[in-house]
Amino acid sequence: MAFADPHLQIPDRYIRAAGGGGVVVVGDGESLELPVVDMARLLDPEHREAEVALLGSACRSWGFFQLINHGVDEAVIQKMKDNTVQFFELPLEDKNTVAVRPGGIEGFGHHFRSSAGKLDWAENLIVETQPFQQRNLEFWPSKPPTFRDSIDKYAMEMWNLTTRLLRFMASDLGVEQETLLAAFHGKRQTFGLHRYPPCRHPEKVIGISPHSDGFGLTLLLQVNDTLGLQVSKDGRWHPVRPLPGAFIVNVGEILEVLTNGRYKSVFHRVAIDAERGRVTVVVFQDACINGLVKPLPELGETPRYRAIGKSEYFKGHTAEVLGQGERFIDTLKK
Ligand code: OGA
Ligand code: NI
Repeated sequence: MAFADPHLQIPDRYIRAAGGGGVVVVGDGESLELPVVDMARLLDPEHREAEVALLGSACRSWGFFQLINHGVDEAVIQKMKDNTVQFFELPLEDKNTVAVRPGGIEGFGHHFRSSAGKLDWAENLIVETQPFQQRNLEFWPSKPPTFRDSIDKYAMEMWNLTTRLLRFMASDLGVEQETLLAAFHGKRQTFGLHRYPPCRHPEKVIGISPHSDGFGLTLLLQVNDTLGLQVSKDGRWHPVRPLPGAFIVNVGEILEVLTNGRYKSVFHRVAIDAERGRVTVVVFQDACINGLVKPLPELGETPRYRAIGKSEYFKGHTAEVLGQGERFIDTLKK
């Protein structure tokens, strides 16, 4: 796929029926901002209680928040950003050395399409990074030369950040930290690196169609400050204005089920900019309890979702039978 020439006609396979990004987006003045959670305050005994409450309310009402003062090694972040941009700037034939295979998940290519078969205005690289033994290095690019090392270090930082966040989420939920940590420990970690090129008719295309994330927790890093991510709240799309240096964190469907619906996994999508490209580094942390997706028994509540095996869950989540605005986990509700 060549996105390079802005004067080319937009191929039909990218053009959305309803005008792509053109559904109600709130105006500048009315836009609500995502809650901002401060890790430094979570770690400070004096401010912890108030900040845990803020974290909890962000996960219950928005399912999304920005995380500042996260403590992730800045050099590791910078390397990851630089190498991701360098990878996407390579000629197509270099990127295609790690091309996704038919029916496969990992690799470089166009990973997302709508049920109408239209392609998203993006190119993506997906690699599994944990557990260590499940790494398929054939899909890890060897260019730029430091990329594999950057991914490896960033993977470790993101797991550490996940465990820090989960401890405070457990405290908000009133369960032992170990219970929530155990659901994530040793499970899959997947990287989704996305490049959204500019498009001179942004209203005709979409970067990622509306979806809610299928894993436990998502940690998103914007490589530059181009806007694009929009989060659904109260029936409208709210553009996210990334704070410099912040992570954008969101609750995945499995965490919604683990918390018995207290935390929400919400729809989001990516709009395209007419002038500026956008690159994101997204890390998904998977979770389950003894191979099952189900509410944590330690919550001591009547489960509001029926338990389902992990592979059946993934089949259901990725099936294309769901209509617009439907989530697979809603079919598990009792
Ligand atoms: C995702 C996603 C948003 C972005 O990868 O699931 O929603 O801004 N990405 O790249
Ligand atoms: Ni997503």
